Amino acid sequence: MAKTLVIYYSKTGQNYVNGSVRNLEKGNTEIVAEFIRDAADADLFKIETVKEYAPDYFDCIEEAQQELREDARPELKNYLDSIDDYDNIVVAGPCWWGTYPCAVFTQLDRLDFAGKKVFPVMTHEGSGLAGSARALKEHCAGAEVGKGLAIHGAEAAGSESAVVKWVKETVAK
Ligand SMILES: Cc1cc2nc3c(=O)[nH]c(=O)nc-3n(C[C@H](O)[C@H](O)[C@H](O)COP(=O)(O)O)c2cc1C
Repeated sequence: MAKTLVIYYSKTGQNYVNGSVRNLEKGNTEIVAEFIRDAADADLFKIETVKEYAPDYFDCIEEAQQELREDARPELKNYLDSIDDYDNIVVAGPCWWGTYPCAVFTQLDRLDFAGKKVFPVMTHEGSGLAGSARALKEHCAGAEVGKGLAIHGAEAAGSESAVVKWVKETVAK
């Protein structure tokens, strides 16, 4: 059976949910990443930045925009050095300004994706998959980009059946 790895970033703390700022004890993408792990018998790799983003939602929005403008590669606490053991790589993250947080690119840019299949997964507040597939084409050279999955952040906890269906139809096919 094909082996799957889920590489994900997810932020706890303040986030925008259905029109208001709420405090999340577990990030939306982390909830979805764990559903994917269970459905695909996958391994998880969590991307964590050395410098924490601002706890205030609106300050974090500004920081993220600044990073995107600078095409920043924030330093990570741990790096994954190889994906040689895996056939499928799911790249999951929150939609930040229409794409993944720059920290996701810090990790992707260090890996050799030749011959792999990659799948975009995004949690969001309305933008859907946004630029995730385009970003994977750019940052996972040599990989085939498969069908993605978009989950509305506020519905992450109730998304398990949608995740299982997507895994069966795409990743585990
Ligand atoms: C810095 C920042 C930028 C965001 N930009 C967008 C966006 O462009 N489009 C969108 O639909 N949601 C946007 N959101 C909302 C998040 O994508 C959404 O809340 C997501 O589910 C958060 O996932 P997480 O809890 O795993 O971090 C943004 C949130 C933050 C903090």
